[in-house]
Amino acid sequence: MSYYLQFLANIGIGGAHPGGLPLTKAVLAAEPIKKSMHILDLGCGTGQTAAFIAKYYGCQVTALDIEKKMLEKAATRFAQDRLDIRIVESSAENLPFKERLFDYVLAESVLAFTEVSKALKQCFYVLKNGGQLIAIEMTKEKEDTLTDEEEQQIKSFYGVKEIMTEHEWYDKMKEAGFEKVQVLNVGDKYSKKGLEELSELKLSQSFDFHALRIWVEHQELMAKLRHRLTYRVYKVRKTDPCLKN
Ligand SMILES: C[S@@+](CC[C@H](N)C(=O)[O-])C[C@H]1O[C@@H](n2cnc3c(N)ncnc32)[C@H](O)[C@@H]1O
Repeated sequence: MSYYLQFLANIGIGGAHPGGLPLTKAVLAAEPIKKSMHILDLGCGTGQTAAFIAKYYGCQVTALDIEKKMLEKAATRFAQDRLDIRIVESSAENLPFKERLFDYVLAESVLAFTEVSKALKQCFYVLKNGGQLIAIEMTKEKEDTLTDEEEQQIKSFYGVKEIMTEHEWYDKMKEAGFEKVQVLNVGDKYSKKGLEELSELKLSQSFDFHALRIWVEHQELMAKLRHRLTYRVYKVRKTDPCLKN
């Protein structure tokens, strides 16, 4: 786990993805989500999105994260809001669910931190036929947009193994079995913004304020790379190969 992800867990940031909860709401508003559906918030963090979906749509929601501290904060949130959301501690690369369980998997700034190919294959496996993965992910604007030094700095600071362009994301998603890869147009309100939006904090008691240096480094990196390292909202559908004609 990178210092950055540990830092996020310590500050208990909610909406730790580009665009924050307002972008999540805008993206979900365009989806035909029904009360009967089952949605997985993959890499749920403190559970802000999971709580919103359970409250607003009344769906069955499962919130999964690899980081215990995040899940403790999610559990407190769900208890305070009296929400019946299943919490699962697991890695995205090894999901403890049966095949074809979920109508949607949401991954909001999560896949970039995982072994992407493995995690995508797991998302495909747990989605129902016709189910969709919606992922808001760090994306570099062009193949050669970052210097080798910048790539190394980002990889070591964020703990990411690959920094991909839109087309590289497409390819990975197709390799995992998905079809109809779409990049959603989220409008001017959310485009050309930095990668992160700070909207809510739930500090751990053991929070070390020196960790603020990590936050400052993150802000500096984002400011420097603002137009070269951005994000996309990807939407992909599972069509079971066995059911294709
Ligand atoms: C940038 S935060 C986003 C959290 C949440 N989706 C949100 O928008 O607030 C990334 C989250 O992914 C989780 N994470 C990182 N690697 C993971 C993995 N391999 N499996 C599951 N969760 C992971 C982290 O613990 C963290 O909560």
